[in-house]
Amino acid sequence: MCSIIGYYGKEFAAPIIVKGLKRMEYRGYDSVGVATESENQIELKKGIGKVNEVNSKIQLDSLPGKIGIGHTRWATHGKVTDFNAHPHPSNSGKIAIVHNGIIENFEELKKQLEEEGYRFKSETDSEIIANLLQKYFEETNDVKETILKTVSVIKGHYAFVAMFENGQLAAARFHEPLIVGVGQDDFFLSSDVLGFIEFTDDAIYLENGNFVILEENKFQILDFQGEHAKYGITKVSKEFGDAYKGDYAHYTLKEIYEQHETILKAGEKTQEAIEKTADYIKHAKNIYITGSGTSYNSALIAKQIFSKYVKIKAEPIMSSELQFAPDSIEENSIIIAMSQSGESADVLEAVKIGKQANCKIIAIVNLMTSSLAREADVVIGMNCGPEIGVAATKSFTSQLVILYKIVQKLSDDKITINFEKFAESIVKILENPKNIQQIATKLKDVSDVYILGRGINYPIAIEAALKLKELTYMHAEGIPGGELKHGPLALMDSNVFVIIFNPNDSTYADTLTSAREIKARGAKIIGISDIESDVYDYWIEMPKIDQVLYPISEIIPIQFLAYYAALEKDADPDYPRNLAKSVTVK
Ligand code: F6R
Repeated sequence: MCSIIGYYGKEFAAPIIVKGLKRMEYRGYDSVGVATESENQIELKKGIGKVNEVNSKIQLDSLPGKIGIGHTRWATHGKVTDFNAHPHPSNSGKIAIVHNGIIENFEELKKQLEEEGYRFKSETDSEIIANLLQKYFEETNDVKETILKTVSVIKGHYAFVAMFENGQLAAARFHEPLIVGVGQDDFFLSSDVLGFIEFTDDAIYLENGNFVILEENKFQILDFQGEHAKYGITKVSKEFGDAYKGDYAHYTLKEIYEQHETILKAGEKTQEAIEKTADYIKHAKNIYITGSGTSYNSALIAKQIFSKYVKIKAEPIMSSELQFAPDSIEENSIIIAMSQSGESADVLEAVKIGKQANCKIIAIVNLMTSSLAREADVVIGMNCGPEIGVAATKSFTSQLVILYKIVQKLSDDKITINFEKFAESIVKILENPKNIQQIATKLKDVSDVYILGRGINYPIAIEAALKLKELTYMHAEGIPGGELKHGPLALMDSNVFVIIFNPNDSTYADTLTSAREIKARGAKIIGISDIESDVYDYWIEMPKIDQVLYPISEIIPIQFLAYYAALEKDADPDYPRNLAKSVTVK
């Protein structure tokens, strides 16, 4: 989604804002802009492209002044153009805003404002906020009243920061993240702690329906009724500032390589929460597991391991679909909500529906201070550190480890998993991606890839397809092996590549048969297995490990394959086109 940032302090604002935007770029990278206030004048620069590109062209960081706002955009309303880039000035040029979210009634408000003589330069919903603020500020000459009037007419989910020519800064939050960083002599307003972690680790997580006003020697947090709101300062883990690529070419590669360590941290320090979760599950009427994208794919695996190892039925529900079937949630059940960011709007909406049905909410999140964590009854931490690459990699394997730890507890520790030993076998996969890199060169001009798996390997095939789609823009589809003959076999010909997950488990023999059927139709086969076979045109050798853990290890070669194939196709693996991390709109 978009990232927004504001700075109010004693240093020059623009370089600080550009740094913050660079770190939050994973949230959207269609365009970028900065506006600052200096000597009661607002100056603004913006353009299409990533932060570094635009900054080297138009020097965003050279703007004067010690108060400023900035934005990186993930387009929702209006194409990717300079005009649609933020910040948006009001008609008078005396106010500028940056916005994340969606203003649902913007067309109606825009029409009203146009009738009153306001003119709009962009196609965005955001620009109405700037002109509404101008209108109410001209009426009241008071920032507090201006914000109150504005939030009383706009509908939707939003966070915005507004800068006034007189040097006041204000920001409001409604169902989109907004965090205040409290420095020694300065304040930061940001979508993510990454926007300011380099400068301070003291943060105020603004409540929904609250707003902040910053002016000379005065800082206040108010609610949408205009009353002073309660707030607390939280120490943010410095670890979350550790978002550098180091010697790696891309964040995605770095994050793939971290997995032998991150899987050992999953659920660490929240052991009690895991125990509590197991207890809730044992006594629950129903268990639902929800998430989006990769996190939903983890839910599919959860269903399989819960039933296979502890005979517990759990129903995976795609978060974005839950709102259309709220009756599928039975009262007094439990919902396990998984989300790396803890900010996905679809997941938060699913949780809201669950709460209305008196369900207990278990959150599995990476960021313990995220909105999802704050909504939950029990919170389990992935602890895998910031995941900047837009495609989920290490967060997926961490989620799976946590699910296995829950299974372990559910079995009263009868099922034992040696994660340390497992981490050693992951190192073996990580050590030698050369073969995978070679195979990736073969995918350069391929447009269709199918991924086959049976049983527990099928959800991994779905996750593998998602990785390939996101990173390489190839059409990729996960298929359960047994379904091949019921339709997909018609797709097989010599232009197609098929990846086969074929570990030495109960699915092995049947999957090998499927591979032969495919090979007979001329398709090329990439086998991911601990057993070699002549049916594979390319073999990715997997270490021999405990069967229970196959799903966690199997995805890693595909993460590598998708990464290297993206490079072959000249795609940026960290920032796939049209996507953004932390999808805070529905
Ligand atoms: C896939 C991917 C997305 C996310 C999805 C949910 O690689 O990154 O599909 O998994 O947007 O995000 P979280 O887990 O933050 O709720």
